[in-house]
Amino acid sequence: SSASKEGYPHFMLKEIHENPIAIKDTISGLLNDIDRVKEIAEEIRNAERIIVTAAGTSYHAGLYFSLLLARRGYTVMPLVASEYHSVRAKKGDIVLAISQSGETLDVKMGIRKFKEEGAKIIALTNVIESDIARESDYKLYMRAGPEIGVAATKTFTSELVSLKFLHSVVERESLDYLEKAHEIVRNVITETEGFAKKIGEELANKNNIYYLGRGLGVPLAMEGALKIKEIAYIHAEAYPAGESKHGPIALIEKGFPVIFINTGELVDELEKNLQEMKARGATTYSINVNERLNFSDNEIVIKSDGRLAEIIIAPIVQLIAYYAAVRRGYDPDKPRNLAKTVTVE
Ligand code: G6P
Repeated sequence: SSASKEGYPHFMLKEIHENPIAIKDTISGLLNDIDRVKEIAEEIRNAERIIVTAAGTSYHAGLYFSLLLARRGYTVMPLVASEYHSVRAKKGDIVLAISQSGETLDVKMGIRKFKEEGAKIIALTNVIESDIARESDYKLYMRAGPEIGVAATKTFTSELVSLKFLHSVVERESLDYLEKAHEIVRNVITETEGFAKKIGEELANKNNIYYLGRGLGVPLAMEGALKIKEIAYIHAEAYPAGESKHGPIALIEKGFPVIFINTGELVDELEKNLQEMKARGATTYSINVNERLNFSDNEIVIKSDGRLAEIIIAPIVQLIAYYAAVRRGYDPDKPRNLAKTVTVE
């Protein structure tokens, strides 16, 4: 068959290792399509509100994009696709629908409703000419290549890259920093896989895990926790680190694993949260870009272009979940109760 593991034990591991090529293809595809990207960027700049609708992993990419726009003053509303009834769109609104498959029913139902209400729809999909792409006014493709693993990996990274690209065009910033992104991510995977395996195998013995971050680290924490739930069947919860003192901290006891995502922003605040967790006995892990968190029990620090921080972190949280699942004896390619594409409400 055309789908081969090419020597990897699972499609998921193969696809994590395809992150660099997916990133490269995503960027060159968008550069080829730059006129359309500019048109979409113009629509976003002129929109009264931007509603970002997506499910699962794609929702986390949508949240990332929403935060990028919100910090520049845009009125943006990230929406879990199945909650489309809760939001009424109007003329002047732009809806961005993000879906790897382009078939997720909740996303499709949402864009139909929002279109009727007068909004314009932009689709970002991996599958070309999927339903969601066909039903939208503007289409963008992430071009990550086919993804077999049920739990999204390289397509998440491609979504982040596409959205970072789009955001840079919205802000009329140079795209030069994306040129080396695929090489940087290739090196990061090589350098961090051993660390990710060690953490994943340690987590395999735990019943609960927290993933904490701040700012753009929050969607990465959410994706890290989702991956662990999906394939390793461990209860993992993500929280904005500052909010963790309003509840989650009550569960901390000796050895409770807490993973910090440190994108290099709000480092002092994050470090305080780490100390609060440690003071109650947590075992702490940190994934850091450029800036360290002091007092972390286990850490990896990647020195790189801070603008790529979230893109760099994505494959690491994927690897951690993968190695946790394998250590627990599960097949990460076929998680129980989950489907690659969800076409029911
Ligand atoms: C399912 C898959 C997830 C995916 C989600 C959204 O739950 O198991 O991996 O993130 O659907 O899929 P989409 O194709 O819309 O991005």
